[in-house]
Amino acid sequence: MFADVYSMGLCGLDAFTVHVECDISQGMPSFDIVGLPGAAIKESRNRIRAALRNIGLEMPVNTITVNLAPADIKKEGPVYDLPILLSLLLATGQLYADVRDCVFAGEMSLTGEIFPVKGILPMAIEAARLGFKKIFVPSENSQEASVASGVEVYGVSGVRELIDHLTGKCVLSPVKTGEIDFTAAGHQLDFCDVTGQHEAKRAMEVAAAGGHNILLIGPPGAGKSMLANRLPSILPQMTREEALETSKIYSVAGCMPPDTALITARPFRAPHHTISAAALAGGGKVPSPGELSLAHNGVLFLDELPEFARNTLEVLRQPLEDQLVTISRVSGTMTFPCSIMLVCAMNPCACGYYGHPTKACICGKKAVEKYLSKISGPLLDRLDLHVEVPPVEYAELSRGRAEETSAQIRERVNKARRIQESRFADEGICANAKMSSPMIHKYCPLTGDAEQLIHRAYDSLGLSARAYSGLMKIARTIADMDGEETISSAHIAEAIQYRSLDRKYWGGE
Ligand SMILES: Nc1ncnc2c1ncn2[C@@H]1O[C@H](COP(=O)(O)OP(=O)(O)OP(=O)(O)O)[C@@H](O)[C@H]1O
Ligand SMILES: [Mg+2]
Repeated sequence: MFADVYSMGLCGLDAFTVHVECDISQGMPSFDIVGLPGAAIKESRNRIRAALRNIGLEMPVNTITVNLAPADIKKEGPVYDLPILLSLLLATGQLYADVRDCVFAGEMSLTGEIFPVKGILPMAIEAARLGFKKIFVPSENSQEASVASGVEVYGVSGVRELIDHLTGKCVLSPVKTGEIDFTAAGHQLDFCDVTGQHEAKRAMEVAAAGGHNILLIGPPGAGKSMLANRLPSILPQMTREEALETSKIYSVAGCMPPDTALITARPFRAPHHTISAAALAGGGKVPSPGELSLAHNGVLFLDELPEFARNTLEVLRQPLEDQLVTISRVSGTMTFPCSIMLVCAMNPCACGYYGHPTKACICGKKAVEKYLSKISGPLLDRLDLHVEVPPVEYAELSRGRAEETSAQIRERVNKARRIQESRFADEGICANAKMSSPMIHKYCPLTGDAEQLIHRAYDSLGLSARAYSGLMKIARTIADMDGEETISSAHIAEAIQYRSLDRKYWGGE
C-alpha cells in the first residue's frame, strides 16, 4: 500500500517542495524515515504513534517506510509531522481524500494538536508559485500564510479537525486575506520628549531622510539612548515589498508574532552588548538569521558600542557594505539580506566625561585612547554621521518648551524620501545611503564652491575614499531636504561637520 502527500522544506529564506511518500508492506514491524531527516524528524515517529492512538486511529503493525524526496537535501524541523501522519493514514486506508493539489505543514503533539512551525510565509508563497490550490498550516501561522496570493490557506489546530475537513464531515473555511494597514504601525516614543539637543535631532533627521548610519557620542544621561530609541518614529512607512522581505526573515527565524500577517513597522533591534558574533550575524547548526538580518529594512541599534566584543563588531564590516550576510556551516551556505541603518551610541571614555564642558574626566590619556580604540577605524569609517550629544543645560530642561513632535519631523523625512524614490526609480535602490560610486557621480551635481570645499576638506581631513562617498551621500540628503537639485557649499559644509568628531576623539588632538 502506497500513498503520497506534499509538504515544504526550507533552505535559507526559500522554500522547496518535499514529496512525502509512504509505503506499507508485510514484514517485521518497523517505521523508517529516509531522505536525510534531521533529529526532529526522526523523533516524529514517536509523536505519530502516540497521536494516532490518542485520537482513536490505528498504527499499522507492518513495515513502514517514509521517504522525503528530494532525498539528497537535508530536512530539518518538526514541520513534517502532519504530512507524514496523513500519508500513513492514506496508505493504510484509514482516510480517503484527494490531496494531490494540497500542501501540508505542521508540528504535532502527542494528542494530535497542531503547533506552529518556522518559515510558513516562504512556504505558502512557493506553494502558490508552483500552482498548488490549498495549503494546510497550523492555525497560529494561518494569518502569515494568507499573505500569499493564489492559494487557499486553511488553519488547522488538530489532526481530527483536518480529517473531518478532508472527509467532508465538517468543512473548514479558508482564511481570508484582509487589507494590510501600513499606517497602523504606531510608535509609543516621540521626539517631543527629548529636550534641547537640536543638533543631534537634526542629525537624526538627516540619517532618517537618507537611510545613513549614525554614531552618537556623549556623556552619561545626555539623551543618546533616548534619541536612538525614537528613530523608528520618524522613519518612512514600509512598502509592501519591504514588509514582505522582512516578514520572510521573521518567519524563518520563528520570530513572527502570532496571528500577524506581515511585519508592517520597521524593525528596531537593540541587542545587548554581550551578544556573540554568531547571534549578531546569524548562525546555528542549520544557519538561521541573526540580529543583523532581523533588522532588515529597519534599524540595528548598538548601545554602549565599546562594550561589544571586538570580534563581534568586526562581523558587521562586510554585511554593512554588501547589505547581505553569508553564513557557512556544515549543512550549507546561506545568504540573508541585511539592508539596515546602523545606529551606535557610546561614551567618549570609561568614566564618560572626556571632553565634558564642566566635569573633569578621571581617565588618563592612555585609558581614553584604549577605550576609543575598541572601535576600529574601518567600522568608524562606515558610520557616516558622527554626532556629539552634549549634556543638556539646566535652562533648557527647566524651560519646558514644547519640542517638535516625531510626526512633524517625519513629514519632512517623507518629503526627502519621495525625491529619492523618483530619482532611483530605475536603479533598484530607495535611499541616498545605498548609492554606488557611479550613482554618486551621476546624481550628485555640485556647485563650483561646493566642489572647491569638498576638495579642500578631502586633503585637510585626510578622508578615505569611503568617507568621501559617505560625505557626498549625506550632502545629497541635506540638499534633498532643502528641495535642491544641485548640492551647494552649505550642504557640503554641514556634511563635513558630521565627519569632524572622529578627529576630536580618534585623531589624537
Ligand atoms: N535631552 C533630554 N531631555 C529630556 N530628558 C532627558 C534628556 N536627556 C536625558 N534625559 C533623561 O535622562 C534619562 C537617561 O537618558 P539616556 O538613557 O538617553 O542617556 P544616555 O545618553 O544614553 O546615557 P548613557 O551614556 O549613560 O547611556 C532619560 O531616561 C531621560 O529621563
Ligand atoms: Mg544610553
